[in-house]
Amino acid sequence: MARIASLLIVVASCQAYSFHHWSPPGPGDLRAPCPMMNTLSNHGILPHNGRNIDLNTTLGGLGMLNLEPELAGYLFDFGVLTNPELNATTFTLQHLGNHNILEHDASFSRRDAYFGQDPSFFDAATFAETRSYWHSPIIDVNTMARARVERLKTSISGNPEYSMSKIGTRISLDGSVAILLMFGDGETLRAPKEFVTYFFGEWPASGMPTRSLVST
Ligand code: HEM
Ligand SMILES: *[C@@H]1O[C@H](CO)[C@@H](O)[C@H](O)[C@H]1NC(C)=O
Ligand SMILES: *[C@@H]1O[C@H](CO)[C@@H](O)[C@H](O)[C@H]1NC(C)=O
Repeated sequence: MARIASLLIVVASCQAYSFHHWSPPGPGDLRAPCPMMNTLSNHGILPHNGRNIDLNTTLGGLGMLNLEPELAGYLFDFGVLTNPELNATTFTLQHLGNHNILEHDASFSRRDAYFGQDPSFFDAATFAETRSYWHSPIIDVNTMARARVERLKTSISGNPEYSMSKIGTRISLDGSVAILLMFGDGETLRAPKEFVTYFFGEWPASGMPTRSLVST
C-alpha cells in the first residue's frame, strides 16, 4: 500500500508530444490487453511491432507519460513475468495477454479468456457494461469501484471458468487503479469520463462501438 500511496504524488500528465505518428497495428504487430501499452505502440513510443520490450524501452516509453523510472521499472518487472522464457529480460505485448499471469477475468474492456477472444481486442459490449456504471461526467472512487464489482459479478455468473486468484498482484496492475492515477487529478482521484472513454476507444456520448483510434 505504501507503494501505491507514493504513486499518488506522481503527476502523470502527458509530456508534449506530437500525435502525428499514430498508426494501427499491421500484420505481424502484437498488441496487449493493456490499452495504454497499445496506444504507446500505436504512436511508436513503444515499438510499433509490440516486440522485444526491455527495461530501457519501458523506461523510455512510460517516461513519455511522466511515470517515474521507479514505477516504470516496477511495472516492467511484472510485464517480464508474462514471457514464458526462463530468465527473460524482454516481453512482447502479446505475452501480456497470457491468461492468469497478469491478464485476468472481469476486465473493463476485454472478454474473459473462456470466451476465446484475443485479449488484445477491445470488446464494445464489455466496455458498454463498464461505462454504464460511470453514470456521471466524473469517475470517482465510488463509481469506479461499482464498475469493478459489477464486472466481477458478471464474470462470476456468466463464465464457468471464472478465476481471480493472486488478487494482490492483480490489484496493483488493475485498470481501475491505473485510470484514477493517470487520468484523475492526483489528489481526489476524480477522472473525466469523456477522457477515459476516449482512451478506451469510444467516442464520447455517441456510444458508437468503434475500434479505438487511441488504444486499439
Ligand atoms: C509496463 C507497463 C504495463 C504493463 C506490463 C501493463 C500490463 C497490463 C495488463 C497485463 C493488463 C490486462 C489486465 C486485464 O486482464 O484486464 C493491463 C490492463 C490495463 N492497463 Fe496496463 N500495463 C502497463 C502500463 C499501464 C499504464 C501506464 C496504464 C495507465 C493508464 C495502464 C492502464 C491499463 C488499464 C486501464 C487496463 C485495464 C483494461 C481493461 O480492464 O479492459 N497500463 N495492463
Ligand atoms: C534506450 O532507449 C532509448 C529510447 O527510449 C534509445 O534511444 C536508446 O538507444 C536505448 N539504449 C539502449 C542501451 O538500448
Ligand atoms: C536462469 O537464471 C538462473 C539464476 O541466475 C541460472 O541458474 C540459470 O542457469 C538461468 N537459466 C537460463 C536458461 O538462462
